Amino acid sequence: MSRLDVFIDRMVSQRACIDFAVQATSHLSGPVFELGLGNGRTYDHIREVVSGRDIFVFEREVASNPASTPPEDRVLLGDVRETLPAALARFGATASIIHADLGGHNLERNDQFARAISPAIEPLLAVGGLMVSSDCMYFEALTEIEIPENAVAGRCFIYRKDA
Ligand SMILES: C[S@@+](CC[C@H](N)C(=O)[O-])C[C@H]1O[C@@H](n2cnc3c(N)ncnc32)[C@H](O)[C@@H]1O
Repeated sequence: MSRLDVFIDRMVSQRACIDFAVQATSHLSGPVFELGLGNGRTYDHIREVVSGRDIFVFEREVASNPASTPPEDRVLLGDVRETLPAALARFGATASIIHADLGGHNLERNDQFARAISPAIEPLLAVGGLMVSSDCMYFEALTEIEIPENAVAGRCFIYRKDA
């Protein structure tokens, strides 16, 4: 499998899992958190498919395509290891969806980072909320659920807060 194949599988899976999460949480009104703006592609998709919910973006340095750059007051600028705990104080356990795509090319480092930030992500989710990630996460009380049929196993993960 080439890197192009892996990239395409990741993109297809991100869209499928985001679409699934938006539909599955449509009864919730809490904010949507996008962790890792990057070029802004998944942010752009999220804002297309989410309505009636606020979208906040966590990013250490905004460098997105101008066509998909969020308003300044919707960006939590800084390292997520600091902005996630600050968000808990500000929002509490209210997020209906948290989408994370924070990884780079080093898979081992991505895994270590996922382990490090999982405890800071977990308390932000509302009951019934979904966490969608391109990396496997390490939560204590969230349930990993099946990804949609059109997503590729291993390229995307979905976790739900049941209680
Ligand atoms: C793979 S890109 C996201 C791509 C995005 N999903 C898109 O569709 O364009 C990862 C982003 O996460 C950000 N990031 C990585 N580690 C971070 C950290 N510790 N705190 C804040 N942002 C971080 C990087 O700056 C980068 O913009």
